[in-house]
Amino acid sequence: THCILLGAPVDEGQRRPGCLMGPAAYRTAGLTATLAALGHSVEDRGDVRPAAPGTQTCANPAVHHLPETIAWTDALREATAAALTDGLPIIMGGDHSLALGTVAGVAAHAARVNRPQFVIWLDAHSDFHTIESTTSGNLHGTPMAYACGLPGFDPMPAFPNPIPGANICMFGIRSVDPAEHAAMQPTDITVNDMRVLDEQGIVAPLRDFLNRVRTANGLLHVSLDVDFLDPSIAPAVGTTVPGGTTFREAHLVMELLHESGLVTSLDLVELNPFLDERGRTARLMVDLVGSLMGRKVFDRPTRSYG
Ligand code: ARG
Ligand code: MN
Ligand code: MN
Ligand code: MN
Repeated sequence: THCILLGAPVDEGQRRPGCLMGPAAYRTAGLTATLAALGHSVEDRGDVRPAAPGTQTCANPAVHHLPETIAWTDALREATAAALTDGLPIIMGGDHSLALGTVAGVAAHAARVNRPQFVIWLDAHSDFHTIESTTSGNLHGTPMAYACGLPGFDPMPAFPNPIPGANICMFGIRSVDPAEHAAMQPTDITVNDMRVLDEQGIVAPLRDFLNRVRTANGLLHVSLDVDFLDPSIAPAVGTTVPGGTTFREAHLVMELLHESGLVTSLDLVELNPFLDERGRTARLMVDLVGSLMGRKVFDRPTRSYG
């Protein structure tokens, strides 16, 4: 696979400075070497540079850094769509507001190649606020609602081809605000919260979704938020939530995604290296990308996990 690294040092979608150091931390932790060791070609396109922010405003006084976020969204939509014509983009964040742009970029590419778009959202949070509904004002809590085409995103550019809820599957969810819950209620999004994972494990729900992606010949975007992981193994994130996925669950998800052969783009988001302990979270994230891109302990026949 031709892997295209895009740095997205986005810090404006939340209030704890440090995510802008994420791309440097992934490079320091050896992301390129990890991918190359697995036989992939790697092209690091450097950090995406947004245009100067405009002067957009919105009605919700809690919202901050809206013009900066719109500038990032435009730049990342274009960079992601362009990279998809050449290989598998890996977007090194940056906070999760970057997905406003990357998922839109996948949507633009999907329209171009006439294939449906699917998203796997690996996160403690549903990130299903609109610009109107967010009470924190942190726009990293909004990209999934944006991708579904919800109203309440004025003055953001319209999302190209909103994604049907049935094409979205969330894992690891354990923190949802009331407004997000209400907004997701009428959708067909599959929300595999921790209750589902505890009862059914992670394999069966993932296999079901991957089978749907394969049947539809879909593009599959994976958005991996550091807080998907338990804080005990991944402390470098501003929004830790107890009860996250374990080291083994997370690697298993990545291995199954690799075996599916379906993943076409990847976000790595919310890493805040300023909060890390001797680089352990950055290294874990790089190791997870290794599993997603084919690293395994023993070769075994591919199973029909979808
Ligand atoms: N729901 C909360 C909010 O809107 C938390 C969002 C956390 N999002 C994230 N990408 N870590 O502020
Ligand atoms: Mn600022
Ligand atoms: Mn998130
Ligand atoms: Mn999160």
